[in-house]
Amino acid sequence: MKSHTLLMPLDMHLHLRDGVMLETVAPLSSYSFSGAVIMPNLVPPVTSKEELVAYKERILNATGNRVNHEDELDFEMMDMDYFEPMMTLFYQHYPREFLEDVRDEIFAIKLYPAGITTNSEGGVSSFDLDMMRPTLEAMAALEIPLLIHGETEGFVMDREAEFMPIYGMLAKHFPNLKIVMEHITTKSAVEMLDKYPNLYATITLHHLLITLDDVAGGMLRPHLFCKPIAKRPEDREALLSAALDAHPKVMFGSDSAPHPKDKKEACGCAAGVFTAPIALQVLCELFDRHGKLENLQAFVSDNAQNIYGLCPEFKEVTLVERPFTVPSHYGTVVPMFAGETIGWSIEEVM
Ligand code: DOR
Ligand code: ZN
Repeated sequence: MKSHTLLMPLDMHLHLRDGVMLETVAPLSSYSFSGAVIMPNLVPPVTSKEELVAYKERILNATGNRVNHEDELDFEMMDMDYFEPMMTLFYQHYPREFLEDVRDEIFAIKLYPAGITTNSEGGVSSFDLDMMRPTLEAMAALEIPLLIHGETEGFVMDREAEFMPIYGMLAKHFPNLKIVMEHITTKSAVEMLDKYPNLYATITLHHLLITLDDVAGGMLRPHLFCKPIAKRPEDREALLSAALDAHPKVMFGSDSAPHPKDKKEACGCAAGVFTAPIALQVLCELFDRHGKLENLQAFVSDNAQNIYGLCPEFKEVTLVERPFTVPSHYGTVVPMFAGETIGWSIEEVM
């Protein structure tokens, strides 16, 4: 049976939510990933050091890394299942003193244009350089990366492409700021990578697999509806080439975004595809099908380590080419490929 081992897989864009949802979904990522970049679009968004530290603690509890605040750490469990939540703050025009104070607790800052997606109402309403300069200069000086949901308010299929000049402007004016174009979906975003040395990107699993046709070309499939919406075949091809060839500026970020089934199968469907429990298996299947399994390690870990200078906790995940039938739901959440059989399974995590 064909098998493939991945070392320290990293999910560089993950939504874990809070409360019961956090308890449901966090173990599904911590089982097979060494760490993940945690998105701050809670209600209310994570904008203070206290909220961020408390949220990280709740994540560690939910992943089984901590029994509770007072108890001793369970080292046996930590060895097996340690998972590093790399915390982000929700972008606001933060003063430098605040950023200095929070620096050691955060991995990056995530910027949302106001209202562009789930819980982003408090985001940025204009990309005014003078307004943003103090914060972005401080971030560059403190080496805090800026992660961006890059979409305008234009026509839904054009939103990401229309955002490219804003990426270009920010990359040019803040050459020492590391900027990550999150969950890119277009050929134009892939092309930006070679134009600016300080621009990087994450790519999701679902955007490597689907186009708008899969979402809305036949019967509407709400569990594939996400932001940015899946685009055209040529866009998917460009994303696939970048991922399969392990473009060194591209990292895997699942954007796994759980919503309860009743919020997806609704008139007014929430945006987000839930891929956390099947991401590594399907990536193996995809890279294998294209004869590029040897490049998967770079896409799911090494590139991120190089780009961010990370040293993740040791974790070795062995996958095998054995069919796995995806559960119809995890708690209240329906995963991608629910009820379908995928070609690869996780054999062992060490
Ligand atoms: O589809 C999405 N869901 N895109 C995002 O940018 C946010 C995410 C969510 O939080 O649900
Ligand atoms: Zn996201």
